[in-house]
Parts: sequence; C-alpha cells; structure tokens
Amino acid sequence: MDFLKIAHARQSCRSYEEGREVETEKLQAILEAVRLAPSACNGQPYHLTVCRGDMAKQVAAATQGMGMNKFASQAPVLIVISEMPYVKSAALGAKVKGNDYRSIDIGIAAAYLTAEAAAQGLGTCILGWLDDKKLREICGLEYPVRLVITLGYPKDSLREKKRKNLDELVTQL
Ligand SMILES: Cc1cc2nc3c(=O)[nH]c(=O)nc-3n(C[C@H](O)[C@H](O)[C@H](O)COP(=O)(O)O)c2cc1C
Repeated sequence: MDFLKIAHARQSCRSYEEGREVETEKLQAILEAVRLAPSACNGQPYHLTVCRGDMAKQVAAATQGMGMNKFASQAPVLIVISEMPYVKSAALGAKVKGNDYRSIDIGIAAAYLTAEAAAQGLGTCILGWLDDKKLREICGLEYPVRLVITLGYPKDSLREKKRKNLDELVTQL
C-alpha cells in the first residue's frame, strides 16, 4: 500500500528493451487498474486500444515529427486512449458547470495506468504530441484520440524528480 514508492519509481521512459515483450498478465493488471479508475459520474468516457507488432509501429509513427517521440518506435506496446461520449449525468454536469470532466477522467486513467505499470516493473511514457487524424485511421476510431502511452521494459535508470516545491504548489488556509 506504499503509493509513494510507486510515484517515485514511475518516470517517463524514453528508452526500451527492443524485442522484449510485455507479459499478458502484466498488461491485464495494467488495464484492470484503468478499469478501477474513478471518473465523473462513473462514466469512464474513454476507450483504450492496445497495439503491438506492426500496429504499434504505425501508432508510434503517428506520435513522431519535429524530433518528438522517436523512442516510441522501440516500445513493444502502445496504448491509444480515445474519447467516448459522456453518460447523460456527466454531459449535463459538464455543460452546466463548464467543466471538461472527460479530460480530467482521461488524465486519471493515464495516471492509474502508468502507476500500475511502474508497480509491475515496466516503463511508460504518456504522449500528448500526436496526430489524431492518423491515429483514428490506424485504429479505426470514431472519437478523438487524446493520449498514447508507450509501454515496455525500461532501459533508463531512475532519475531524480524535478518538481515545484510544495509551498509553491499548495496553499493551506
Ligand atoms: C498530458 C501529457 C503529455 C505528454 N506528452 C509527452 C510527449 O509527447 N512526449 C514526451 O516525451 N513526453 C511527454 N509527456 C511526459 C512529460 O514530459 C513528463 O511527464 C514530465 O516531464 C515529468 O517527467 P516524468 O514523467 O519523468 O516524471 C507528457 C506528459 C503528460 C502528462
């Protein structure tokens, strides 16, 4: 139950052991963590498309350009997170309150995914630099792609975290 250990272990992994596959049970545990993630009105307004092999290579290419995300081609698994429609109550709440719950929900799902991957000894990197149109074509998706997450065995060693200080980040009233 020591979440802080997982939070320290998780980092954006930009170098993977090429050719080393992710075990099915580990991938299942990671997907189960996403299934358990909270979301506005419990609506889970997202879909995950798990890509391996040639599909993974095609997805990786759709996250690259201008020098970005070259490492994505090394990862054996790429997980594409796309939008799904809101459930009615979340749609109403989002409209009335002017709050983008879906983006928040997708962020939480990504956090759960990457945390469980770290707990399994795997590396991930959340990619927001992506070509939505290409990815929708590759994966046959109707709704916008919001994130791609690379997954595999890391070659990086653990870096020191660079973060704002708590007093900059938090006000306690
Ligand atoms: C929404 C989002 C989009 C991101 N997009 C990219 C990306 O396209 N390429 C990349 O290399 N890193 C990307 N990152 C990783 C961040 O750069 C990284 O999380 C941040 O610098 C903190 O470093 P750490 O993850 O190693 O702790 C993204 C992270 C988030 C949360």
